[in-house]
Amino acid sequence: MRRPPEIDLSIHHPAHGGSDRFALAVTRLLRFFADTFFAKRYGHRAIVLETVAAVPGMVGATLTHLRCLRQMKSDRGWIRILMEEAENERMHLMTFLEVCKPTLFERLIVLIVQWLFYIFFFALYLISPKTAHRLVGYFEEEAVISYTHYLAEIDAGRSANVPAPAIACRYWGLPESATLRDVVLVVRADEAHHRDVNHGFAADLGGKTPGAISPYPWHAAELDGPAVQEPVLSGLPAPQSSTNAIG
Ligand SMILES: [Fe+2]
Ligand SMILES: [Fe+2]
Repeated sequence: MRRPPEIDLSIHHPAHGGSDRFALAVTRLLRFFADTFFAKRYGHRAIVLETVAAVPGMVGATLTHLRCLRQMKSDRGWIRILMEEAENERMHLMTFLEVCKPTLFERLIVLIVQWLFYIFFFALYLISPKTAHRLVGYFEEEAVISYTHYLAEIDAGRSANVPAPAIACRYWGLPESATLRDVVLVVRADEAHHRDVNHGFAADLGGKTPGAISPYPWHAAELDGPAVQEPVLSGLPAPQSSTNAIG
């Protein structure tokens, strides 16, 4: 069985300047709402928050792509990293949907929050990509903390350690005997990686040297499709069975 990479749970970027302080304040405000609304319902919390977490990567990739076209500059590999981040967050959502089902009210919340957050984050990324990446870095710090609490709930027996969903076993290469605990460990490692990548992007945009990046767990390239996909058009080669998308 692939072991989840060792991650540093204690990483927190201290806020320097107005941009960082704004990002941290927004994160704390959203954390307050999440704590109030979900309390210890970690499965439901994961589902709703992963629908938010999958937005910044796609917005960042789109706006970086357009800026590179306008300025006729290299993206230095950022676009693929950001798109992969969005994809990875969507896989977190698909996985937790197999563990618990959102209520009708939570689905309504997702609809409203997606519109509000998409517009907010799009505007923020246009005005200050550095602040936008710092904000995601802080979101991911909170995600690492949330999943650590989820693990504690499972270990204490307050959340059932059910078998890992098949989609998770395929995506993270976990054995059939894997459990929800194994899934939460690899999801938390994903979040730690996103945390360091986004703080690194913010540092780079601020003219500073990015810090070390937490290792990324292995991921299958097929996502939630069939194990071996048929070519979409005849004559095209079938995709490779699995690769490590980034790093
Ligand atoms: Fe996530
Ligand atoms: Fe994340």
